[in-house]
Amino acid sequence: MTAAGEAGSAPEAAPAKVNLYLHVTGRRADGYHLLDSLVVFAGAADSVGYAPAQALSLTLAGPEGAALAAEPDNLVLRAARLLAAEAGLPPTGRLELEKCLPVASGIGGGSADAAAALRLLNTAWDVGFAPARLEALAARLGADVPVCVASAAARMEGVGETLSAAPRLPACGLVLANPRLPLPTPAVFKARRGGFTPRAVLPEGWDDAATMARDLAVCRNDLEDAAIGLCPEVAAVLAALRALPGCLLARMSGSGATCFALFADAAQARQGAGMLPEAWWRWGGGLYGAPF
Ligand code: C5P
Repeated sequence: MTAAGEAGSAPEAAPAKVNLYLHVTGRRADGYHLLDSLVVFAGAADSVGYAPAQALSLTLAGPEGAALAAEPDNLVLRAARLLAAEAGLPPTGRLELEKCLPVASGIGGGSADAAAALRLLNTAWDVGFAPARLEALAARLGADVPVCVASAAARMEGVGETLSAAPRLPACGLVLANPRLPLPTPAVFKARRGGFTPRAVLPEGWDDAATMARDLAVCRNDLEDAAIGLCPEVAAVLAALRALPGCLLARMSGSGATCFALFADAAQARQGAGMLPEAWWRWGGGLYGAPF
């Protein structure tokens, strides 16, 4: 155990993933959907903390923590047990999940938390697995967990496990808004009607947010109609985002109900988020890791 591990580790950020588009390109024999999606990460994040302790435990904190209290087996604990089993270690430590992202909301909060736990414990337990091995473990926890291991923009294909380089991204602002209604992913996939959408054709990169928004406008989120059918408020969120000054593109992320809007910069996005109804969960800022 390292000295840092004995004192407890610095909390690990678990940033929200945003699907700038999400095409359902096919379906596997086991019912899982084949996807093509450009995933980016927002500055909005949960965080996972660790302190050494004999037994494995998890405490929930943060504004959205109460929503998870009834869940018997949090994905963070499953991630910890899976890593321990794979490393041949007993699962130990006091984990604390600071929950700031809304639960079951299409921005991969649970997946990001699980990926953050894998990264954190890989170091705290001195496991030393390479990122590719962590990604393979992540795929066993959920389709969105592998892309969250690196928490860097990526093109996601297959059922979520096939990752490749994203086009070069410009500086941009993002608003996230959720009507505070959870949408379970399996229900949204089940409600989806219609055929399949081809893989998107993307350039090597974009120099500014307006050009990126223009190119992404021809793509879609193939789960948006199904989500609106289950949760009509999603349409109201999209309309409110499109009405914000400077909004370049608004679309639902993942299986919803969180929607995002793209702006030229983080300052415009922060201003836009402040104009949305207070009853919604809303956030405005830049991409994860981008300077303000
Ligand atoms: O893998 P994860 O637990 O996040 O997926 C939740 C559910 O979403 C799956 O049980 C499945 O119904 C649906 N899903 C899918 N195709 C994907 C990802 C998820 O059909 N690529």
